[in-house]
Amino acid sequence: MNAAAMNASPAYDVDAIREQFPILRRRVYGKPLVYLDNAASAQKPRAVIDRMTDAMTRSYANVHRGLHCLSNEATAAFEEARRSVARFVNAPSPDEIVFTSGGTDAFNLVAYSLGAAGIGPGDEIVLSVMEHHSNIVPWHILRERMGVVLRWIDATDDGLIDPDAFEAAFSPRTKLAAVTHMSNVMGAPTDARELARIAHAHGAKILFDGCQAGVHGKIDVQAIDADFYVLTAHKLYGPSGVGALYGKSDALAAMPPFRGGGEMIDIVEKDRVTYNDPPHRFEAGTPPIVEAIGFGAAVEWMMNVGVEAIAAHEAILAEKALVELGALDFVTIYGRAANKAPIICFNVAGAHPHDVSSIVDRAGVAIRAGHHCAQPLMKRLGVTATCRASFGAYNSEDDVAALVEGLQKTHDLLG
Ligand SMILES: Cc1ncc(COP(=O)(O)O)c(C=O)c1O
Repeated sequence: MNAAAMNASPAYDVDAIREQFPILRRRVYGKPLVYLDNAASAQKPRAVIDRMTDAMTRSYANVHRGLHCLSNEATAAFEEARRSVARFVNAPSPDEIVFTSGGTDAFNLVAYSLGAAGIGPGDEIVLSVMEHHSNIVPWHILRERMGVVLRWIDATDDGLIDPDAFEAAFSPRTKLAAVTHMSNVMGAPTDARELARIAHAHGAKILFDGCQAGVHGKIDVQAIDADFYVLTAHKLYGPSGVGALYGKSDALAAMPPFRGGGEMIDIVEKDRVTYNDPPHRFEAGTPPIVEAIGFGAAVEWMMNVGVEAIAAHEAILAEKALVELGALDFVTIYGRAANKAPIICFNVAGAHPHDVSSIVDRAGVAIRAGHHCAQPLMKRLGVTATCRASFGAYNSEDDVAALVEGLQKTHDLLG
């Protein structure tokens, strides 16, 4: 058992947590729902649902524009959510938090804006083979558009980034490293502080994909010295349609806008335009108001439960799942890092991942199967697809048992 699991607080009451998630009461195919697709998107607690309902039923109006009561209330709630997200990642200032429409949108923002000023033809960007497509394709678009060079680094078998391999990818032309803080396939936290140290020693900036890491442990963008850090709300027990880009204030200040429209401007005349300061410079048009408020409620919910307490509970689940799935001789597990989050990718001998997923679904167990938007990593692992069971704050040890039972049945059926 790893240290986090041994230190798990006995006070963590998973039944009380489950009570807060209305969807967990439903049944699928007559069976109790065992939801193990959290890495794709997590379920929502009552605190988030109620906050969003309240925002729509009591205080809804457009933000930043009106001088009337409802607009002021909506603006205050929207900006309060920004402060919550800033606190969640320990950003020095809420002005360093840009609301986006999700993780994908944040990567595209940085790629577009750095491509417009900061990165030019022949400049290099370091990526790992573990990246989600949302942190690959925007850089490919920059490669196609302006001849930026992508430098790829491998991952270890356990889903880590070896600092020496990382450093070897740098050259005097490297402008940015864009790497995961936790792969959505391998579930292992990369050594963000060390990777940032290396990038900065080479005069490059570093962007972390925190879409999974943010769910499973305390994030401190100052401690790791991230230049950019990406979050998405729907995996953090919040709504879809909203995410956040943390950017150091000087990095954001140097970036031109991504999209043009209302709210991101200072002055608009017939022959010139000037832009607002960050974060508003990057939030063109009416933002996802209710979703951002829900995002704030979600990270407040996590901080109230205790990010570390959730992680300690999840470490017990990860340990149990690795041991019990590992005991099934027909199951191959990909990635077994010691401090891995409960994101377990595996295959069942003789069965296609899609079939495994469909069969366990009939037993009420929701897992994911496919390439997980990580085709370069699938190639590295020598597979085209895997199954993925991913656990969250409300999963219990019974859920691990239900998964194991479902896999045994699948093997009996197909093996
Ligand atoms: C590691 C990782 N990065 C980025 C994303 C993309 O986030 P979004 O769905 O908010 O665009 C995901 C979502 O699957 C992810 O798992």
